[in-house]
Amino acid sequence: MIKSFRRIGILTSGGDAPGMNAAIRSVTRTAIARGVEVMGIYRGYRGLIEGDMKLFSIRDVSNIVNHGGTILFSDRCAEFKTEEGMQKAINMCRNNKIDGIVAIGGDGTFRGATDMTVRGIPCIGIPATIDNDIASTDSSIGFDTAMNTVVQMVDRLRDTCESHARCSVVEVMGRNAGDLALQTGIATGASAIAISEIPFDEKEAIENIKKSKQSGKRNFIVIVSEGLGKCGEDLSVRIEQQTGIETRFARLAHVVRGGSPSLRDRLLATKMGAAAVEELLAGKSNIVIRESCGDITTMDIGLAFTLDRYYKGVLKDGELDKYTPDERKMLDTLRNNKRQSIEKLYMLSKEISQ
Ligand code: F6P
Repeated sequence: MIKSFRRIGILTSGGDAPGMNAAIRSVTRTAIARGVEVMGIYRGYRGLIEGDMKLFSIRDVSNIVNHGGTILFSDRCAEFKTEEGMQKAINMCRNNKIDGIVAIGGDGTFRGATDMTVRGIPCIGIPATIDNDIASTDSSIGFDTAMNTVVQMVDRLRDTCESHARCSVVEVMGRNAGDLALQTGIATGASAIAISEIPFDEKEAIENIKKSKQSGKRNFIVIVSEGLGKCGEDLSVRIEQQTGIETRFARLAHVVRGGSPSLRDRLLATKMGAAAVEELLAGKSNIVIRESCGDITTMDIGLAFTLDRYYKGVLKDGELDKYTPDERKMLDTLRNNKRQSIEKLYMLSKEISQ
């Protein structure tokens, strides 16, 4: 029998991402339109444990679709990972009559959602992270805005590089995923891009910069993903030494996490928020909402974790054994597609970076 929902909770957790507010608005208004109350839970799982929450009306989510950050605030909560913390969270849900939760964030957020679901509070995850490091979805909320912010910042650096005949080595966030670095590197006409997914040929990159300089180029942009550690700073020193081009290092860091969400992120967040409510009310739980070839669909969170590990090459022994042949085929296809699309884009970036 499908559980009937009178009140659901909504929270944002982990690193914030532009578009989270659009998702909060969509979840709240979709639920209220279906006669279900919405409890806004502040400061992610920490706020849930501490009972920091408020019953939302449709007006509580007015004027937020265009704002970055999250009106619910966010947190990374160590206590929630303990059994004691988890039990506090479950009790808080029961005491506040929360029948299910929509959790917006990245993989850490989904882990929390799974832990709550197995303890009796059905949860659904919505992927929101600028890193785009959730393999089950083509895009996560915030990724598009972050890309646009990087492009704006790097375009500015290019202006001053052109005036002074300089090179800028720019480190962009993304944790261990190179999506943000790769796509913005192409869009800003970078002379070289370094990401953790593909071995970086430094010698070739420096030769390429020298050749471009000889052909009259004055400005040089090199994009480095933060997943490569301190690589960017050291690389900028070597570029200057080996090319004679004055080189500056810039770390964009958290500036990329803020700002008004792009149209694409607002739309994606709105669609995902509505889908999360529909699925929850239809009795589904422990799933993640995803975008696949333009459609909004779902995937079991456990399967999504396996896909992530499969893509990153860190599967546990025998982890695929529990899946059906069809599920394995799907995992193969999704992993291969994502790998191939990164490789193809990287090849393209090299070909056109003169
Ligand atoms: O996951 C989003 C992200 O901004 C990553 O790109 C980055 O590595 C990390 O969060 C930074 O974390 P914090 O906000 O804790 O500094």
